Amino acid sequence: MTTVTSENTSRATATFPQVRLRRLRSTATLRSAVRESHIRLEKLIYPLFVVEGKQVQRPIKSMPGIYQQSVDVMLKEVDEVASAGLKSLILFGIPEDKDSEATGAWSTDGIVQQATRAIKQRFPELIVVADTCLCEYMSHGHCGIVSDGQILNDPSLAVLAKTAVSQAAAGADIIAPSDMMDGRIAAIREALDTAGFENTPIMAYSAKFASAFYGPFREAAQSAPQFGDRTTYQMDPANSREALREIELDISEGADIVMVKPALPYLDLISQARALTKLPIAAYNVSGEYCMVKAAAANGWIDERRVVLEILTGIVRAGADLIITYHARDVARWLS
Ligand code: PBG
Repeated sequence: MTTVTSENTSRATATFPQVRLRRLRSTATLRSAVRESHIRLEKLIYPLFVVEGKQVQRPIKSMPGIYQQSVDVMLKEVDEVASAGLKSLILFGIPEDKDSEATGAWSTDGIVQQATRAIKQRFPELIVVADTCLCEYMSHGHCGIVSDGQILNDPSLAVLAKTAVSQAAAGADIIAPSDMMDGRIAAIREALDTAGFENTPIMAYSAKFASAFYGPFREAAQSAPQFGDRTTYQMDPANSREALREIELDISEGADIVMVKPALPYLDLISQARALTKLPIAAYNVSGEYCMVKAAAANGWIDERRVVLEILTGIVRAGADLIITYHARDVARWLS
């Protein structure tokens, strides 16, 4: 009897030299057998920037490898990434004209609506996520209706809801509101349901921070605010309890997937969100995170492939189910 007790005790308190964690690291096969987190192509969402016109492919200087593309050129890229194994895309539109009502965001012939129809017609099995926001379509570059220099919350909800419905009508599989107005998830859910899109899920940019890491995206989407900044609607990077409130509220308003954005400086929140909810969690590995890797790699300072895979593994390990990342096309090439 004493032997059993002492054995149990020694197991519970076992330490070196009985315990050697290196045992399970000794071969590649063992390491992969005990690996806990995996990057899978079906979990990655690849962003595309679509513009009006034909045969347009304009490089985005701060985002090497990413382009503004007209629908015809974009379809070729979609074909390539789909063949490489990617399953999901998120679309951002750059309209020809911007105004103070964000007409391009919700019109039937808006650029995202055109692109969505074209992609779904050729590649019905792909998941098309529509970023639902107004900043790219507003002359002032803010994510809501502006009056007297203020970004108005409640009047913006109807415009966002109208945008979501037109995106769903064009065939978008997921609606992803990124504006950070209060109450938008409930407003969008109700509008989608009323329009007969009760089966269209909402991926809410729930904890979206007022981040300097969006700089390159604003070049790509030509969506920089023309006055002020986004700190009255996007979150203060210092706040984690508030981020959890945002997530809880979006869930109570009907979100199907919640998002943390950016990813890398907010891995703690991905992990806290994972503990908070059973919903799928998305993380946005944003433009600034992408361009830092690209710049360092172009200088020969880091091993791009290893760094990217390590970053994405870290985001998965923190608790993300889905990752929006500009690296997705490269990753698909590397992993296939
Ligand atoms: C639109 C939107 C932004 C991003 C995604 N949707 C920009 C912003 O909030 O200014 C940023 C994505 C990135 O940096 O990659 N509101």
